[in-house]
Amino acid sequence: MIQVEPTGVSFETKEDETIMAAAIRNGYTWPTICGGQGTCKTCVFLTLEGKGNLTEIEPWEAQALESIVDTLPNRGQGWRLACQAKAIGDVRVKKIGVRQA
Ligand code: FES
Repeated sequence: MIQVEPTGVSFETKEDETIMAAAIRNGYTWPTICGGQGTCKTCVFLTLEGKGNLTEIEPWEAQALESIVDTLPNRGQGWRLACQAKAIGDVRVKKIGVRQA
């Protein structure tokens, strides 16, 4: 289950489904400009709990995160792209703008 703060929205993900895709499938919006192509970085979220329950960062996502690391608190630690990251267990994240579609 993905729990999103500060709204408390929560939803389940399917195997091999990104967090953003799961949010949309469950009737929520997730901030995006590129529609999940991995280019806008608008979907970036902070992992609060369950970092180990996220899939490994692929080179493409790492490159995208590196390009915005200076704009992120905590030197970018714990930040992921919701259009790339997949969950294999419970994760609690912080993302403004996730709400009922
Ligand atoms: S939705 Fe654009 S980078 Fe993730």
